[in-house]
Amino acid sequence: RERAMAEEAILGYLESKDEISDSGQFASERGLDHNEVVNVIKSLHGFRYVVAQDIKREMWMLTDEGNAYTVTGSPEVQLFLAIPPEGIPKEELQKKLDPSVFKIGSAQAAKRKWVEMGKQLVTRKIQHVEDEVKSLLLQIQDGQAINQDEIKALKARKLIVPQTWKGYSVKKGPNYAPKRKKVATDLTRENLQRGDWKELEFKEYNFSAKGLPIESGHLHPLLKARTYFHHNFLMEVAFLSNIKLVRHQLKGIFRQMGFEEMPTNNYVESSFWNFDALFQPQQHPARDSHDTFFLQVPSTTKQLPEDYVERVKQIHESGGYQSRGYGYDWKREEADKNLLRTHTTAVSSRMLYALAQKPFVPKKYYSIDRVFRNEAVDRTHLAEFHQIEGLVCDRGLALGDLLGVLKEFFSRLGMSKLRFKPAYNPYTEPSMEIFSYHEGLGKWVEIGNSGMFRPEMLLPMGLPEDVRVIAWGLSLERPTMILYGIDNIRDLFGHKVDLGLIKKNSICRLGL
Ligand code: PHE
Repeated sequence: RERAMAEEAILGYLESKDEISDSGQFASERGLDHNEVVNVIKSLHGFRYVVAQDIKREMWMLTDEGNAYTVTGSPEVQLFLAIPPEGIPKEELQKKLDPSVFKIGSAQAAKRKWVEMGKQLVTRKIQHVEDEVKSLLLQIQDGQAINQDEIKALKARKLIVPQTWKGYSVKKGPNYAPKRKKVATDLTRENLQRGDWKELEFKEYNFSAKGLPIESGHLHPLLKARTYFHHNFLMEVAFLSNIKLVRHQLKGIFRQMGFEEMPTNNYVESSFWNFDALFQPQQHPARDSHDTFFLQVPSTTKQLPEDYVERVKQIHESGGYQSRGYGYDWKREEADKNLLRTHTTAVSSRMLYALAQKPFVPKKYYSIDRVFRNEAVDRTHLAEFHQIEGLVCDRGLALGDLLGVLKEFFSRLGMSKLRFKPAYNPYTEPSMEIFSYHEGLGKWVEIGNSGMFRPEMLLPMGLPEDVRVIAWGLSLERPTMILYGIDNIRDLFGHKVDLGLIKKNSICRLGL
């Protein structure tokens, strides 16, 4: 309504007058909001109803301090009023006033010779004072002009600051009419039938307007796939890093290398498959509730393959297959406990056990799915993340095969400079941490963990003696974070993720 009123006023005024010389004055005379008047002028100018010309004026605006004094009065007057006719000891006056009011007020009041700042007493030198500062500030607030010396003084006291005021002068334009015609944006069936399209004025096309963003689902960066190839996007990728992982592309790489996906749709696992089958002793710190989420309901697993459980118990307690075992009392209750799987290697152990129940065939398996660890959440850790796992199971494999497969796999991700460091996992021997040289960061970064599954894990399953399994695992988040330049994992995954970011993220590509 404000807008309609402003438009009516402007067009109406120009019907009989040549010019609105100052939009500010025009607005205040009619009690209109100047911002609204400016918006209307811009719009009318755009449609050439009027021709508007900028006018600028230097104005003064009150600072916060200036504004405060319009209410409380200036500090010098506050101080003056706090002095009784008989005078007051300095300390007492100081106590009565705000420290800044006292400080500024006493300096100003002394300068104006309103008060005598004696050693003992502060006394009034005159009976009555006017608060000129306050009334000047009020005048400025009201847009009234005041003289230059006074402006200078207020500016020096930082009670006012300069501000450029912007307005317009307005004249009739080539399309001027006392009322704005409604322009049609669509040619309708009715327009055609009635024939009124002949009289209609159509809005011009704006060919540089952007289309509306499409409402649709969007892929999360962890899932995003490259579906097209684009110059800018290549530049961006080249700029980002050499670690470029996204789930879909990883799946493609695994499939191209002949790997089958393992079924990872069970987040709840028993300790048996997550730990015991992997020859992880029951006192191992990772099995502590600090690192593992145990389930309250159902707290234990329903069934395990009993004869295999017996062989696992044996290998933990007293060994076998040329191993000495750990030599402790293995407890079934520990193995039965349900948990949220802490690694996808739990799935690998199920798959290898299943493989061992049939005549042996070599296999290449992979998975990419969620795992859970009871970690303190911070910018690089969440209590859940995605693990990428690959394994090859065949007769007579050696460490060289693991190195070869890792080189092949990681080079397909664009990571061809690899280094390995001896490591320890209860279920692999030897074990190696995998490092890759990160061109962007200019240093070696840890990207995964790997090893050859121990005979203590494979032989109780019933796999033939000469079958070896090489395997590796890594997180999906870390390389993706580097890839998308995300430095807080909570921006990538979980309830704090910015959905706008998910929509707008460009597609990144692996393996340049
Ligand atoms: N399970 C290991 C981890 O969670 C990764 C791994 C998989 C290590 C396979 C060796 C072999 O870090």
